[in-house]
This record gives sequence, structure tokens and C-alpha cells, in this order.
Amino acid sequence: AIPIIIDCDPGIDDSIALLTAFVSPELDILGITPVAGNQPLLQTLRNTLQICELGERSDIPVFPGCARPLLREPIYGQFHGDTGLGNTRLPEPVKPPETIGAVDFLIDRLTLAAGSGHRITLCCLGPLTNIAVALRIDPRIATGVDRIVMMGGAYREPGNRTMTAEFNMLVDPHAAHVVFSSGIPIVALSLDATHQVILRPEHVSQFARVSGRIADRLAELMAFWDRDQVERYGSRGGPLHDPLVIAWLLVPRLFQTRRAKIFVEYESELCMGQTIADWYGKSGQEPNADIVTQVDAEGVIAFFLDRLSRYAAE
Ligand code: BDR
Ligand code: CA
Repeated sequence: AIPIIIDCDPGIDDSIALLTAFVSPELDILGITPVAGNQPLLQTLRNTLQICELGERSDIPVFPGCARPLLREPIYGQFHGDTGLGNTRLPEPVKPPETIGAVDFLIDRLTLAAGSGHRITLCCLGPLTNIAVALRIDPRIATGVDRIVMMGGAYREPGNRTMTAEFNMLVDPHAAHVVFSSGIPIVALSLDATHQVILRPEHVSQFARVSGRIADRLAELMAFWDRDQVERYGSRGGPLHDPLVIAWLLVPRLFQTRRAKIFVEYESELCMGQTIADWYGKSGQEPNADIVTQVDAEGVIAFFLDRLSRYAAE
């Protein structure tokens, strides 16, 4: 199995990503590290624990991460409702979070991985604060990372939170800069990719039909996501941003990528959090990322349906 750590800020789409990963035996989830993002840390932590409870995966340790971005004032998500998980009624968490924090866990676990040669894949579904702080405390942990597969940025697409910035990059552009300059290979699922996979009303009922014991809660989560964005996506629906990270790991043939060096703007107010790809080698720097350009949207939806139907088989 592929050893992974999931760094996230649930978030409705984060939750769908987690629920997909939970029923994927090809993945060995070593830990989950919630961070402030869609909601303040205490809420993303609680949401993570509730989703673990729902998925009956409280065996996975959850390590509380950073409560604030490196330098900027926090901003929180839109479209995820008051708790970050729509109006979904979820089970109360039974198991508490770990007593050590996300940054210490990342440093310890990645140091071990660097020494053993069994490198770990970081799945990043939120602002990159936890990863950046860990890298600043001990840059050597980079050698313990196989790659970072991240949802974030917008290259050919405009931003979704400002004219130029995607939400995860805008929340903590300084952290993104630390990660992009760390030398760690990156797979970038930006809005260019995620805007190709829109969860439409007909999908919501399909998912509800197949997903067995989590069906009601999943339908509630998804129904909240199925929002009115006709102007933007040509019909109702919301993009399945974060779950694409899990799909990329398990069915990479559904994705096309292009290599480039990626940068993030962290000084200009107008362009704060904008991501830039050096498509034509203008910077003279080596590429650090595979940027997903094309997604087989139907293939990906079929993949999620197949995975989430495992909740019916159990
Ligand atoms: C990203 O922002 C968050 O609201 C989502 O969970 C996703 O990670 C999309 O821009
Ligand atoms: Ca997220």
C-alpha cells in the first residue's frame, strides 16, 4: 500500500476525499492533520473526527495542526455552511485527537521515512501551513516525502476566491511558497483540473443510491455542494476539488499532466495567492511540478461511485 498522510481542512469536498480514501486498501493512511482553512482549526479538527467516525475509521490518528496562517489574517471558506460540513448531522466523535500536534507528527514520521527509504506521499487538501512549518523546523524531512499531491492554485483558470487566487493558496501564500521552493516533487490539482469535474444533481442521487450505510449523510453533504453556479459551470453543481487528489493516486491514467516550475505570489495585494506556471521555461529554473491539465471527468465520477459503493458492501 502507498503510505500517505492527509493534510486537510474539512470542508465538504475534503470529507468526500477522506471517505473515498478510507475504503481504498491501496492506501495506508498513517495520519490525518487538520489545519485551519475552510473553518477555524477547532472546527476542522472536529469535522475530521466526525468524518472518521462516520467512515468507521477512528483507528486513524488525527493530529491537530496550525490554527493560523504563517503571516496573513485567517480567512475561512464559503459554500461549506456554518460548520464547514453543510447541515449534515454527523456522529459525535468518540475518539479524541492525538496529544502531539500535526507539525511534530510530520517531522517525526518523515524523519523516519527519510532514514528507512520508505517515503511518504503527502495529500494536501487545504492551506499548506502545517507542511511549511514542519519544513521550516527541519528542512531535511523533504527527503522523507515521495511527493506532494495537492489541491490548490489556478493556472489557466481565474481564481475562485479573488480574481486571481484559489482559496487554499490565498489563505496561506507564504506557506505555499515554502512548499514550492522545498525541492519536493509536486502534483498540482488546480482549478484547471477540478473545474472539469462538477458534481451535478443527478450524481447526488446516484451516490446516495450506492453508498449503503453512509448514504444519508453523504447525500446531505453532496446536496449542500450542489449549488447554483450556472453562470460559472453551465449548470447547477459544485466542483469535486479535493477528492481528485485521491483519484489521482489510484487511477492516474484518468489525468493528463504537464511539467513546469510553479510559483506563488505573496506580496501584491491584487494578486495575493496567484499561482504561476512557467510553461515555457522563462525562469531558467527546473520544473518542480506535474500540473494536471485534463481530467476524464466521467471516468473519475465512475471511480468515486465504485469506491463509495463499498460502504454498502461492508
Ligand atoms: C479548495 O478550497 C476549499 O474550500 C475546498 O475544500 C478546496 O480544498 C478549492 O478552492
Ligand atoms: Ca479543502
